Amino acid sequence: MSELVDPFGRKIHYLRLSVTDRCDLRCQYCMPEGFSDFEEPEDWLSFEEITRVVRAFAELGTHRIRITGGEPLVRKGIPELVEGLAALPGIDDLSLSTNATRLRKLAGPLHAAGIRRLNVSLDSLDPDTYRRITKGRLDKVLDGLMAAKAAGFAPIKINMVVMKGINDHEAEAMVEFCMEHGFTLRFIETMPVGDTGREASAQYIGLDVIRARLAERYTLTDGHLSGGGPARYVRVNDSPLHIGFITPMSQHFCDTCNRVRLSADGTLYLCLGQDDHYALRPLLRAGIGDAELREHIAHAISLKPERHEFREAPGKVVRFMSMTGG
Ligand code: 5AD
Ligand code: SF4
Repeated sequence: MSELVDPFGRKIHYLRLSVTDRCDLRCQYCMPEGFSDFEEPEDWLSFEEITRVVRAFAELGTHRIRITGGEPLVRKGIPELVEGLAALPGIDDLSLSTNATRLRKLAGPLHAAGIRRLNVSLDSLDPDTYRRITKGRLDKVLDGLMAAKAAGFAPIKINMVVMKGINDHEAEAMVEFCMEHGFTLRFIETMPVGDTGREASAQYIGLDVIRARLAERYTLTDGHLSGGGPARYVRVNDSPLHIGFITPMSQHFCDTCNRVRLSADGTLYLCLGQDDHYALRPLLRAGIGDAELREHIAHAISLKPERHEFREAPGKVVRFMSMTGG
C-alpha cells in the first residue's frame, strides 16, 4: 500500500472530517455571536462524496478518521455516515469531537455505528461561566455527556480551552470531575485562529502555569496515552486519570504533525495555522476517476506547510475554527 508523506518526512495517516461549519453554540474563541454566514448546503460534500474521499485516503494509508464540525451533530444522519466509513477497508479508528448538546439522543446510535473515541468540549462546570463562554446551557451538555458515558464510549476526553480570568480557576474542579467520571482531561491553549481566536488570545494563559498549580495539589507523573495527537500526558496521584496538555502556543508540535483536514465544502486544509488549501469538490463534481483523486490528494499533501506561525504571524488565519474543526 502506498503512503502519504509530506515534504518534511511526516507520514499523514489521520484525516479530520468537518461535516458542517454550523454550530448550535458560539464559543467566544471560535465563532462571533451573531455569525450566520455559513456554507450553503449545495456546497457541502454529500455523504457519498465524503465517503469517496475517505476511501481514497484509506487507499493511501490513512487509517484514522475524526468527525468534527462546527458541531458535527447538527448535520442530520451522522450515524449513517459513520456506518459507511466504518465499513471501509483500512479504517480502524473512528472518533468524534462534539460539544455534547445532542448526545442525549445520538450517543447510542453513534456508538452502534462504530464511533469509539469521543472528545467533548467543556470549558466550565459553572452554568453562568459556561453560558458566558459558549452562549449555551451546561445542563444539556452534562446530560449528553452522561448519555455518552452510559453508551460505553472509551475513552471520553474532555477538552477545556483555558482562559485567564474566565475559567482558569476551574482547572482543579475539572480534574475532580474527570476523576469521578473516568474521563481523560485535556487543557488547550487559546489559538489566534480567526478574529474570535485572536480576541480570545487576550486571555491566553500558558499551560505551564496550570501544570505548576496542579503540581502543588496532586502528584503528577509522566504518563502516556495512545491517541496519536499532540497532547503530553501526566498521570494524577497514581489514579487512572490522565491529564493532557495541548500547547500549540508555548511549545509547538508541528514536527510530529500527522494530519490534514477536510472542510464541509470539500476543501483540504493542510495546516490548522496556515491558509494553504486544496479544493477537492470541483474535481469530484467534474467526475474525476479514483486514481486521479488519489493523485490530487498526494499532490495536496506535497503542499503541506512545515509549521504554523501563531506567534510570529498571529494575523494569518482569517477563517474561524468552526470551518476546520480544531
Ligand atoms: N483556540 C484553541 N482551541 C480552539 N477551539 C476552537 N477555537 C479555538 C481556539 N481559538 C477548539 C476547542 C473546541 C474545539 C472545537 O476546537 O477545543 O472545543
Ligand atoms: Fe461550536 Fe465548537 Fe466552535 Fe464552540 S468551539 S462554537 S462548540 S464549533
